[in-house]
Amino acid sequence: MTRGVRSVILSAAMTTSEQNFDQLRHQPRVLLGPGPSNLHPRVFQAMSSPVLGYLDPDFLVIMDDTMVLLRRLFQTENEMTITLPGTGMAGMEAAICNVVEPGDEVIVGIHGFFGQRMAEIVERHGGKAIRVEVEFGQVVRADQIESALKSNPKAKMVAVVHGETSSGIGQPLEQIGQLVRQQDKLFLVDTVCSLGGADIPVDRYLIDICYSGGQKCIGGPAGISCITLNDRAMRVIESRSRPVDTWYLDLLLIRKYWFADRVYHHTAPGPLLFALREALRLIEEEGLHDRFARHQQCGDLLKTGLTDLGLELFGDPANRLPMLTCVMIPGGVDDAAVRQRLLRGYGIEIVGGFGPLKGKAWRIGLMGYGCSERNVHYLIAALREILAR
Ligand SMILES: Cc1ncc(COP(=O)(O)O)c(C=O)c1O
Repeated sequence: MTRGVRSVILSAAMTTSEQNFDQLRHQPRVLLGPGPSNLHPRVFQAMSSPVLGYLDPDFLVIMDDTMVLLRRLFQTENEMTITLPGTGMAGMEAAICNVVEPGDEVIVGIHGFFGQRMAEIVERHGGKAIRVEVEFGQVVRADQIESALKSNPKAKMVAVVHGETSSGIGQPLEQIGQLVRQQDKLFLVDTVCSLGGADIPVDRYLIDICYSGGQKCIGGPAGISCITLNDRAMRVIESRSRPVDTWYLDLLLIRKYWFADRVYHHTAPGPLLFALREALRLIEEEGLHDRFARHQQCGDLLKTGLTDLGLELFGDPANRLPMLTCVMIPGGVDDAAVRQRLLRGYGIEIVGGFGPLKGKAWRIGLMGYGCSERNVHYLIAALREILAR
């Protein structure tokens, strides 16, 4: 192919993608997958605020303000409540690698894909993951954690995922928190899927470390995560025998940037922070109680609508999440074709199953701004039309 022909093809391709992108600007997707979720217009606007330097006094005020808002969302008094550059996985990696030293034992309650990831990260940082694993669709029982704590008295921490985005199941936390505290261990909880859409009072549930991502029920952008740690957890980190094995997510270094010293650690992702802060302000305006109720009501409406279509919901009915519903694909229905029709015909994104649910289930999210009765009715109507064909 000559250089001329190649450049004509390239420019034609770019034009087409520009056109598609332009169309999406005016007809955005209805994002009903497991995240990211649609953004409130105010969150978008915040993202295009003027850039500020990472030590600009006005930027530092926004950081402080974000900490206050995050403490209210996590329902915690923890001073160390900050954002991290990076997606939810940055929160997961930071929470684990700052605590785990080579040889440390961590009990990981696994009820889906993200619990498995937690165990893998423990091992990558030289720890020993003691897996307490249940079937997809179930939750880890408190008595299982209790016996793991008995058989592994040296374990440093117990880690669980609250909202398993892979199965649509919410892990009860309160009893486990009490057991862990009685044994004087640390309790780590992943709330990437659920924070902002379900009541997770960090202090009352005796959670020592909790993290989340921006782009799901918080209603912010992807690329920024948040984490809170109490003094018990910070003391464990401060008394490590060797520094954390990654520099970038070393919370003792990052703390110096967020608090009095204000020492440069990384260039904070300003637009993402502005957007996250706006999403947190929207949560404040709505009120935590009303926000959780909205997620519950829309989740219930969706489950009723799906059942009325003759579809079967997945997982333990007692612990289904409001913000993420896993529904079985009826026999004879082509998974990919339905999702393609939803996307191309209606602009709706839903996502397929993970692991044992691959090709067998759909995952439907109602998160943050995208969690509305209108979206539920639109999706159910679209599914009804597609499945009737
Ligand atoms: C429960 C849970 N933990 C962690 C993550 C990782 O978050 P991210 O994809 O933002 O890195 C996800 C993402 O879907 C999640 O659902």
